[in-house]
Amino acid sequence: MASTSTSSTRATAQIGVTGLAVMGSNLARNFARHGHTVAVHNRTHARTKALVDEHGHEGNFVPAESAEDFVAALQRPRRLIVMVKAGEATDAVIEEFAPLLEEGDMIIDGGNAHFADTRRREAALREKGIHFVGAGISGGEEGALNGPSIMPGGSAESYAALGPLLEDIAAKAEDGTPCCTHVGPDGAGHFVKMVHNGIEYADMQLIAEAYDLLRTVGGYEPARIAETFRTWNTGRLDSYLIEITAEVLAHTDGATGRPFVDVVADEAEQKGTGRWTVQTALDLGVPVSGIAEAVFARSVSGHKDLREAARALPGPAGEPLSPVGAEEFAAQVEEALYASKVVSYAQGWNMIAKASAEYGWDIDLGAMAAIWRGGCIIRAAFLDRIRAAFAADPGLPTLLADKEFADEVGRAQDAWRAVVATAVRHGVPTPGFSAALAYYDALRAPRLPAALTQGQRDFFGAHTYRRVDREGSFHTHWSGDRDEERTD
Ligand code: 6PG
Repeated sequence: MASTSTSSTRATAQIGVTGLAVMGSNLARNFARHGHTVAVHNRTHARTKALVDEHGHEGNFVPAESAEDFVAALQRPRRLIVMVKAGEATDAVIEEFAPLLEEGDMIIDGGNAHFADTRRREAALREKGIHFVGAGISGGEEGALNGPSIMPGGSAESYAALGPLLEDIAAKAEDGTPCCTHVGPDGAGHFVKMVHNGIEYADMQLIAEAYDLLRTVGGYEPARIAETFRTWNTGRLDSYLIEITAEVLAHTDGATGRPFVDVVADEAEQKGTGRWTVQTALDLGVPVSGIAEAVFARSVSGHKDLREAARALPGPAGEPLSPVGAEEFAAQVEEALYASKVVSYAQGWNMIAKASAEYGWDIDLGAMAAIWRGGCIIRAAFLDRIRAAFAADPGLPTLLADKEFADEVGRAQDAWRAVVATAVRHGVPTPGFSAALAYYDALRAPRLPAALTQGQRDFFGAHTYRRVDREGSFHTHWSGDRDEERTD
């Protein structure tokens, strides 16, 4: 049902998508399948033509050859979704389209942009009266077509005009609510998407560690681990990532007949959103050790040179006997995986809360869990419990303080400690499990050795310290008579 475009194109489209690689095409098709008329545009027109030739029967597409035609095809206020590579390409598209737009129109960036870029672009376009909406979109190619989780930032005014369309094409949670909500102003949407990806990295790392332990210590073959994961997926770990991990582990390589996981080079790559999460967390001063370990684990895996140079280093002597059988060990690993997962989500939420306060975004923390229940890569049954925890107490300082999560993690701790100890004894690296446990222990410790760190800082740099029994800053004259003075 595609109409042809001319310079006198009538404004019939409710929404437009420019940038028609797979994500952009699938998003456009999703809108069309939901009965919306979609203007489609790509730098090379052949791609626009191919989309309409192949999928024109799915709904109403208005193919536009030029930027002018594309803009002319859009009803006002114009809603123009940009699906190009994050970075310079986005700026180039904005430069091309902004002069053609009018006040009240919207440019929506659906890529994985850095939230600081989104803030910059939003401020610049706001001066021209154009709304810029940085919208995180999760769920990959399949999600874009059949229902992603959408995290739009930008002004509340833009959401009033855009939200209903996005909610229409978004995934729906089990209770039928759309996995899309207005996250907050300017870069809030892209920030939250970045943290989503950081949590995704942590989840993937924890699952990888569970696999490694079951295989190396438990002696399970990949197919049996796939079965174990399938069982876990019927319980509290029920999630998309556990589900697809079982698929990957059950897969046999066609060419060799070997387990697929054994023919893949063990060097994890990254496009960079996990790294951004950690860099930003450092700037905000939020400890996200689970996410950081996941990023570093990918980095270590990619350092062939270091790994080669260290290959001959000795590991633990002999094969220490596991004190429990393989099945009991697998049950312990499930506990460790779950507890570590709760910790990394707790850290991710702390990061969103901190940024929300810092930038004045006023993000509804429970709503973020609600819109991640479907469509996105970290969709999981337990997100509904995170939603409920924040609904019960919007000021919850950490998920670990929620009674239900605290009880569960507390019950898991013996197994969690046993798994980390076993991993250490066997020489199996579990940075995710270990960092999560260390974070848990650090938070619950009545006293931390940070007091000693403060003493050292005061010793070598006169950096001062605070005391437990008196107000104020103090410095000790270490090289003299060691008398203390109040410095504030
Ligand atoms: C999603 C994904 C998606 C993606 C990233 C991560 O939410 O749909 O997070 O954004 O797969 O590009 O990729 P890397 O692992 O390469 O960083």
